[in-house]
Amino acid sequence: MPGSVLPEREFRFHDRQPDLPDAMAEVVTGLSRSAKTVPPKYFYDATGSRLFDDITRLPEYYLTRTEVGIMRENREDMARAVGDRACLVEYGSGSSEKIRILLEACRPAAYVPVDISRAHLLQSARAIYEDYDWLAVHPTCADYSRPFALPDIASALPCVAFFPGSSIGNFDPADVPGFLAAVGAVVGRGGRLIVGVDAKKDADVLHAAYNDGAGVTEAFNLNLLKHLNDLLDADFDPARFEHQAEYNPARGRIEMYLASTATQSVRLNGAEIAFDTGERIHTESSYKYDPDEFLELAGAAGFVQQRMWTDERGYFMVLLLEYAG
Ligand code: AVJ
Repeated sequence: MPGSVLPEREFRFHDRQPDLPDAMAEVVTGLSRSAKTVPPKYFYDATGSRLFDDITRLPEYYLTRTEVGIMRENREDMARAVGDRACLVEYGSGSSEKIRILLEACRPAAYVPVDISRAHLLQSARAIYEDYDWLAVHPTCADYSRPFALPDIASALPCVAFFPGSSIGNFDPADVPGFLAAVGAVVGRGGRLIVGVDAKKDADVLHAAYNDGAGVTEAFNLNLLKHLNDLLDADFDPARFEHQAEYNPARGRIEMYLASTATQSVRLNGAEIAFDTGERIHTESSYKYDPDEFLELAGAAGFVQQRMWTDERGYFMVLLLEYAG
């Protein structure tokens, strides 16, 4: 706008994607353990991000539609908490659908979507930039489960963190305070975090959400092997693995596995990974929390509860937390 003193809004990509050798070392290490594991961030290549979007629309997968309902209902309260001229930093932005509720309710100055899936991130962030012609957008490709540098815009404006979807459930509880403390350092003392957390509930409901009838979760889980083949030049045969997801009530978590249906060996960067029939790769944990359990972890990181919103059934919570330092 001619004569305006406001800086022009911009779209700028910030690349903090982990290096390939680091990914290789991480995956080989996880698969060399006696209890094999691959971190859930490897679900999200372009196909995996699309399959996850399909999961969010499944009848059995109550999480997304419940959280979106809670956000719609309480958008004004959330907007007040965010304030204006803020910078919204979203951890694991995916398709950037939920953020639209906040953007429309509070009109922040900048949006920093952080996601590991580069192509999906760029496409979603571009759509946001085009739909909101007053907003600066700084897509940042990073693995948020590890320390990474936010773009400078995040230190130039007061930041509010947004971590929806119960993606916090992917962390082991022991690692939650450390992660949240890093978020606290981003928002600063008095800064806010809006976080979505899935609640403990009937095991059958949980089981169905991760074992859908259409087999989308199965495809999502198996696609991880295809992603490792592409990314690391491995030779997994997805046809010789099967999807398993079960609720572990003692640990309060859904556990997802890929179980080998044969005795086989897989090549990965010169390493040979041997599988017995029935041997499993642990691909994801999805922790479910009672409100008090989660608030205790948040408290250990220096966050105090300001608000808690939930649905009628108490299936999901959206928490507004303030960082007390
Ligand atoms: C994106 C981690 C929240 O744990 O429910 C969905 C991922 N895995 N179905 C979840 C997921 C299988 C999801 N999070």
